[in-house]
Amino acid sequence: MWGGRFAEGPSAVMREINASIPFDKRMWQQDIRGSRAHVAMLGQQGIVAPEDAAAIAAGLEQVAAEFEAAGVPDDLALEDIHMLTEARLSDRIGPVAGRLHTARSRNDQVATDFRLWVRDAIDQAEAALGALQDALLSRAEEHADSVMPGFTHLQVAQPVTLGHHLMAYVEMVARDRSRLTDARARMNLCPLGSAALAGTGFDLDRGMTAAALGFDGPTRNSLDSVSDRDFAIEYLTAAAQTALHLSRLAEEFVIWASQPFGFVSLSDQWSTGSSIMPQKRNPDAAELVRGHSGRIVGSLVSLMITMKGLPLAYSKDMQDDKPPVFEAHDLLGLSIAAMTGMVESATFRTDRMRSAAEAGFSTATDLADWLVREGGIPFREAHHITGRAVAAAEAAGIRLDQLSITQLKEIDDRIDDRVYGVLSVEASVSSRTSFGGTAPVRVREAIAAARRGREEDVR
Ligand code: ARG
Repeated sequence: MWGGRFAEGPSAVMREINASIPFDKRMWQQDIRGSRAHVAMLGQQGIVAPEDAAAIAAGLEQVAAEFEAAGVPDDLALEDIHMLTEARLSDRIGPVAGRLHTARSRNDQVATDFRLWVRDAIDQAEAALGALQDALLSRAEEHADSVMPGFTHLQVAQPVTLGHHLMAYVEMVARDRSRLTDARARMNLCPLGSAALAGTGFDLDRGMTAAALGFDGPTRNSLDSVSDRDFAIEYLTAAAQTALHLSRLAEEFVIWASQPFGFVSLSDQWSTGSSIMPQKRNPDAAELVRGHSGRIVGSLVSLMITMKGLPLAYSKDMQDDKPPVFEAHDLLGLSIAAMTGMVESATFRTDRMRSAAEAGFSTATDLADWLVREGGIPFREAHHITGRAVAAAEAAGIRLDQLSITQLKEIDDRIDDRVYGVLSVEASVSSRTSFGGTAPVRVREAIAAARRGREEDVR
C-alpha cells in the first residue's frame, strides 16, 4: 500500500519487526467503526461521491462479517489491522476501496481506534469493579457484627468487625472506579481528521465523526492528537492502582486461609490441591491475583518508558503501546473476577476470628480509655496502668477480662467492677461509634450509604 517509491520489498526480519497485526487485530471492531464514521462523513461532505461512500460502507460490513466468522489472519505482509482491513475491503469492492483513506492517515486512525478500545476497556473494568463492590457489600452486611482482630504491624491491635474490614475495600474500589471515570472523561475526544500530523486541506466535519463514535468532540491540536497516548497511560495508572488494591485483598485471603490463622475457608471452586501433599488446599487464585498485580504495574512502566522522550509527532515506537494495555486489561479482568468469586463464596470462620481477637489483649485500649473517662486519670498514666494489667494477664495466661477485681485493684485501686463492661471484644467494637468507626451501627450506615451511591451510579 505504500510501496510506490520502493524497488525492492522488505526483508523477512523487517517485515516481522514492523508488523503489529499479531496483536492489533484485537482492535478490528474499533477499526471498522472508525472507518464507517469516516466514510459517512466523507460522503456527507461531498469529498467522496455518495454512491462510493455507500459502496465502501457496505463493503466494510462484509469485511466485519468475515472477521467475525473466520477471525483476523496474521498477514504480516499487510503490517497492521488498518492495512489488512483496507486490503480485504479492496478484495470485496475493488478500486473504490482506495477512496476510504482520503483525508486520513494511519496515525489518526490508530489513535482513534486505540481510544475506542481503551474506552471499552475502562467501561468493562468499571462494571466488573461494581460487581466486586456488591459482593463486598453483601458479605459486609452479613458480618456487620462479627468480631475479628484488627491489626497494625500484623500484630493484634484492637477488635474490629469483619464488616468494617470488608468495607475498607469498598472504599478502595470506589476510588478505583472514580479514577477510571475521570480518565474516561478526559480521553473522550476524537483524533480522527488530524491526518498524519498537520491536519488536512479537505473540508472535513470532525464534529460529525466525533459524535458518530460517541466522543464529546474532536481533539484540538493535530500534532498532539497523533502523538498523545496519555489516555492509555491514565488507564494503566488506574489499572495499576486497582491491581494494588486487589493484591492487598488477595494477600489477606492468603494469610487468612493459612492454618495458623484459619479465618477463612476458600470454597473448592477457588482452591487447588497439591500433587504430592494430599491434605493441601492452596489459595492459588489469590496468589495469582497478587502476582498479576506486578505484571499490571509493569505494563504501566512499559508504556511510560516507551513514550518518554519521543519527539512530536508520531514515531513507530508508539506501535508498542498496545501489548502492555492488552495484557493489563486481560490480567485485570481476570483478577477482578477471581477476587469477586472468592469474596462471594468464602466461608468466614467467625469463631476463629473472635477467639483471635480475644487472645491478643485487644481491649487494652478500652481499659485505658475507661481509666481516663471514669477515673479522670491522664491518658499516659492510664496507658501505663493498663500495661501492668496486660503483663499480669499474660503472666497468668488469661485474658484481660479474666483478671479478678482483686488483681485489678492491686494494680490500681481506682479500678472498680464497672470496668468489666468495657473489656469484652463486643463492648469494644460497639463503643467505637465515631464517624467511620467499627461499631456495627456505623458499619451498617456505611453499607447503606455505599449502596445508595451504587444506585446513583446505575441511574
Ligand atoms: N501499526 C501502527 C501503530 O500501531 C499504525 C500507524 C502507522 N503509521 C505509520 N505512519 N507508519 O502505531
